Amino acid sequence: MYPDLSSKSAHLHERARRVLPGGNTRTTVFRDPYPIYAHSGNGSRILDVDGVERIDFLNNYTALIHGHAHPSIVRAATSAVENGSCFGAPTESEIRLAEMLVERVPGCENVRFTNSGSEAVMMAVKAARAYTGRAKIAKCEGLYHGSYDFVEVSLDSSPADWGDPAQPNQVPYSAGTPASVLSDVVVLPFNDSEASLRLLEQHATELAAVIVDPLPNRIGLIPASRDFLTTLRSFCSRAGVVLISDEVISFRIGYGGAAAAFGFQADLITLGKVIGGGFPVGAVCGRKDVMSVFDPTTGKPAAPHGGTFNANPVTMAAGSAALELLTPTVLADLNELGQLARQRMQAVIHEAGVPWRVTGEASLFRFVPEQRELVGYRSTWADADSARLLEHFTGSLLNHGVLVDPGGLGCLSTVMSEADVDLLEHAVEMALREANIHTLETT
Ligand SMILES: Cc1ncc(COP(=O)(O)O)c(C=O)c1O
Repeated sequence: MYPDLSSKSAHLHERARRVLPGGNTRTTVFRDPYPIYAHSGNGSRILDVDGVERIDFLNNYTALIHGHAHPSIVRAATSAVENGSCFGAPTESEIRLAEMLVERVPGCENVRFTNSGSEAVMMAVKAARAYTGRAKIAKCEGLYHGSYDFVEVSLDSSPADWGDPAQPNQVPYSAGTPASVLSDVVVLPFNDSEASLRLLEQHATELAAVIVDPLPNRIGLIPASRDFLTTLRSFCSRAGVVLISDEVISFRIGYGGAAAAFGFQADLITLGKVIGGGFPVGAVCGRKDVMSVFDPTTGKPAAPHGGTFNANPVTMAAGSAALELLTPTVLADLNELGQLARQRMQAVIHEAGVPWRVTGEASLFRFVPEQRELVGYRSTWADADSARLLEHFTGSLLNHGVLVDPGGLGCLSTVMSEADVDLLEHAVEMALREANIHTLETT
């Protein structure tokens, strides 16, 4: 049972606390009172250091679209490692993965690899600045785009500081964020086309980029409306601003990624997670003229971009193997299973009389502890009590053999079957009963 202070995980956390701040090296995976340490993974299952096996509906925050240790990916990565894991020279493997992305993603003419989604976003913003000669960016309130100062602005604003809904405040996320960073970010209300356009027009000549995720995880996986995306697209075209679609998570919803699935055209797309087959990865891709800021063939590029491990052959080989497995048919089956999972969980929640929603699309899902209409960040913002209830519920899921994110995010992998969805449904039913959502004291 979690938590158990005599468990190996609890002891490892104690040990970790002596050498890592709070025992932690990745804020996302901290869980109070201690995180469960992984031992190994195989297919859809993850085994912890105490020997407890669970179905992994987190898949390293959606990265492992084929589950753990898929034989084809293991083979590709092993053979790459055996050949030498990295070189001070390019390898053919980067061309292959880039060719696969160009073939799949509409509007992706050129690709640039990084080692994380955060770096991909950072390089996309730098590319947009180099291309336009402007400094400001616009991003939506509450949307997550990784650990980069400018895109962190207003990531977790709250009623105490978020200000006017039509003109959200620029709220720092990290303590010590320079005022100059805040003043270079225009914060848009997600899905409010009219207010966003007003803000964009005010800063039209200063903006390098508008960044958006069409299916943003942190705000309940509620989709961007067609009207909102059209408004951003036409503004960017008119004002010469680079439109960035951040698909580090949402790429997995369709064969050509999220912009293609939503029917809009971005100038740059940022990728990560699934395209690395379980190894560290990120990529910026898009229009050739914008991407040419990275081109070194005629002298110093407008946006120079180094990186000791960029396009390292192990990631490239694993990523190519992962994409090769992700055919349109495999993806359609996965997305169908995702739909079934959401329906079944929503039905169980409904039957239990719990006022929660299961949101998401394709193979992604999220538990949202709200019943009101979900349109933007403020409607999905959960107060401390709701967040605690959700954490209690997801903690209870752990004890019924299911791993999801404490904040409610989950996803499926291609190695799952309807039997796994049955187990998920049962675990949700048990955890709801145990958490006793209606009467639980949240103090
Ligand atoms: C939409 C989005 N952008 C960027 C990132 C950052 O990616 P990474 O964690 O690989 O740095 C994430 C990570 O979850 C993300 O969801």
